[in-house]
Amino acid sequence: MPGTELFGEEERKEVNDVMETGVLFRYGHDAQRNGHWKAKEFEAEVAQFTGAKYAHGVANGTAAITCALAAAGIGYGDEVICTPFTFMATNEAVMFLGAIPLFAEVDESLCLSPEGIEAVVTPNTKAVCLVHMCGAAARLDEIKAVCERHNLILVEDAGQALGAFYKGKHVGLHGVAGAFSFDFFKLATCGEGGIFITDDEETYKKADTYSDHGHTHIGDNRGMEQHPYLGLNYRLGELNAAIGLAQMRKVPNMIETQRRNKAILKDALNTIPELTFRHLSDEAGDSCTFLNFFMPSKEGAKNAADELGKAGIGAAYWYTNMYHFINQWDHVHNLSTVSKLPVNVLPKPQDYANLDLPKSQDVIGRLISIGVSAKKETSEIEAMANQLAEIVRKHV
Ligand SMILES: Cc1ncc(COP(=O)(O)O)c(C=O)c1O
Repeated sequence: MPGTELFGEEERKEVNDVMETGVLFRYGHDAQRNGHWKAKEFEAEVAQFTGAKYAHGVANGTAAITCALAAAGIGYGDEVICTPFTFMATNEAVMFLGAIPLFAEVDESLCLSPEGIEAVVTPNTKAVCLVHMCGAAARLDEIKAVCERHNLILVEDAGQALGAFYKGKHVGLHGVAGAFSFDFFKLATCGEGGIFITDDEETYKKADTYSDHGHTHIGDNRGMEQHPYLGLNYRLGELNAAIGLAQMRKVPNMIETQRRNKAILKDALNTIPELTFRHLSDEAGDSCTFLNFFMPSKEGAKNAADELGKAGIGAAYWYTNMYHFINQWDHVHNLSTVSKLPVNVLPKPQDYANLDLPKSQDVIGRLISIGVSAKKETSEIEAMANQLAEIVRKHV
């Protein structure tokens, strides 16, 4: 949990600025706020770090991906290619917008593969919702080529991929729009927060409007402007933005430390010839937030992850946790929620309870991810690396 590893005076100072003025709302109240615009400053920091022309902060990552999809024009009855390996929020956003998910295969990149996308696309498919899982980019060039061939809109969920670049361009800027989560578990956190980025002015304006009940935020009197669209309240509060602002300023150092620490962990595992590593489409652009590797068997992966957990080495075995892999998504299998969704009544291009995704089952079943510390000293990481290799070796 790198962001929370580094909480300190910087976060406290930014929060205190807000507390002293009492203006917790991101818009207006100019006279009282003593020049503090934390949401705006947080957005500027993210725009500068990612290179995005526009960045708009929202309440959480789920809201960010919802705004990105909505601003890209995705809605009722649109088929959207989705991944079976993500935090469920991505696919909830698709379904709550009224779109129909079409699940495709992931591969050793841990993201949708171009072959997987190509295999499920139909003449009705409108978009790909690509998730850059575990801190690094998908096979973007090939995926963009598939999108161009089939006229598909590309939206990127970079919820776990702040700091990941592909060929020099930050993830989230390779399609029409990208989304990030700043929840408690991310590289940089707001506590709860999210951000939406794009290089396209119209898309930005639509997402901005959508995130605040249709307010355009044109002029200096929010609430009295035009309301061209319906929207919802996905606003980011000043207190959360203040924390995110302090955290963003630490991201370059965090990534540098993670890069050093990840290399130490990977070197230790490289001594085990039975292991293979996650395919990195651009190794230089890896945020190094996770070290991801594949065990020879599912059983070995599960047992190794259990033993690592008991030894205090945080290892994610996503295949059986309740949130990240399609096998556990009973609500998707049954399309059940508290009220009816369009996806309940629209045609179903796939049988969600019996999806045939053998590649994804194999890859995620053998995957172990280790969260990389942005704080630990080299000596601590070396000790951890030795213990990691010792435990993993027993299960190959
Ligand atoms: C890939 C991905 N997308 C979206 C989200 C949702 O973000 P949030 O928890 O901020 O709503 C997450 C959170 O874990 C995520 O990992």
